[in-house]
Amino acid sequence: MAGKSASGKAPLESGAPALRLLGLSKRFGNFAAVERLDLTVRKGDVYGFLGPNGSGKSTTIRMILGLIRPSAGEVRIFDRPSTVPGARENVAGFVEAPGFYEYLSGWNNLRMLAAADGRSRDVASLLRWALEIVGLAGRANDRVGAYSQGMKQRLAIASALIRQPELLILDEPTNGLDPAGMRDVRDLIRRLSAEGLTIFLSSHLLAEVEQLCNRVAVISRGRLIVEGDLREVVEHARGRLEYHLVTGDPARARQLLESRTDAMILDGSSEGIESFAPQDVLRISPGEGGAGPVVKVLVEEGVEVLALVPVHPGLEETFLRLTED
Ligand SMILES: Nc1ncnc2c1ncn2[C@@H]1O[C@H](COP(=O)(O)OP(=O)(O)OP(=O)(O)O)[C@@H](O)[C@H]1O
Ligand SMILES: [Mg+2]
Repeated sequence: MAGKSASGKAPLESGAPALRLLGLSKRFGNFAAVERLDLTVRKGDVYGFLGPNGSGKSTTIRMILGLIRPSAGEVRIFDRPSTVPGARENVAGFVEAPGFYEYLSGWNNLRMLAAADGRSRDVASLLRWALEIVGLAGRANDRVGAYSQGMKQRLAIASALIRQPELLILDEPTNGLDPAGMRDVRDLIRRLSAEGLTIFLSSHLLAEVEQLCNRVAVISRGRLIVEGDLREVVEHARGRLEYHLVTGDPARARQLLESRTDAMILDGSSEGIESFAPQDVLRISPGEGGAGPVVKVLVEEGVEVLALVPVHPGLEETFLRLTED
């Protein structure tokens, strides 16, 4: 990143996680908005912090950025407690929609923020660099009031970048944008990641996290549901696969599975397998051994297996399953 060596910041401990939350909690009166949250963001991660509305994402990010104090627990940044002076010097980001002066240009908004940050040297080149990265170099002198929602969001990211962070914290960076605006911001996040930034972003869209992130934590009502590599979490959410089973003799198949295997016959649609009559389709959840024993019993007993099709719950259904009680 530009000017990094001249930034005068303490060198980062190599190998330390970029961010750790340890038992992080926030209560508002009797209400627990965030409860004993533990998670680890490694250097280089694009880390998705996923949860439905009101689950505690912004509250957590406020604690990470030092805007509110935790009720309990700890935020560690590059292996230093956030309470140590200077611990947040390599972190920048924003919560919810950051405000700008609408009657000032994007350039002048950033210039004021840089000044407020105590930055006096090389400000112009820093601003040019940040505006270039977020694709606003050509609009820097326009009033922010004339910016689209997507441009304002990219200006917000630029305002974090002028602090030259190693760890960028973004609260729902695509919220309220149209599909083109979302794509621009996602492309920007990918570019920043490719430049070596570690990025922690919240979202309520599983599909977005799936497109952008390598690791993910899912929270619901302030509590961690699951954390891990994206693929693992999606698999965990999908749970044991269910199948649509089509045989030449559904009644006999049902009876055999119930008496000879630990498979369960489920109610449910035969959506996705419409080429067979619904009464011929059994929706099953096989037991521990998976689908193998199911097929074996049927074949041994001379019941013809015409189709065995895994049923993949959609991403949104997967997310709902995770965050439901
Ligand atoms: N200052 C506060 N005082 C009281 N309750 C609060 C305060 N801030 C947040 N809360 C409550 O804490 C819970 C979590 O809020 P938070 O804004 O962190 O959720 P979120 O996951 O960011 O939601 P959204 O997706 O809507 O942005 C909500 O029930 C909210 O009403
Ligand atoms: Mg929020």
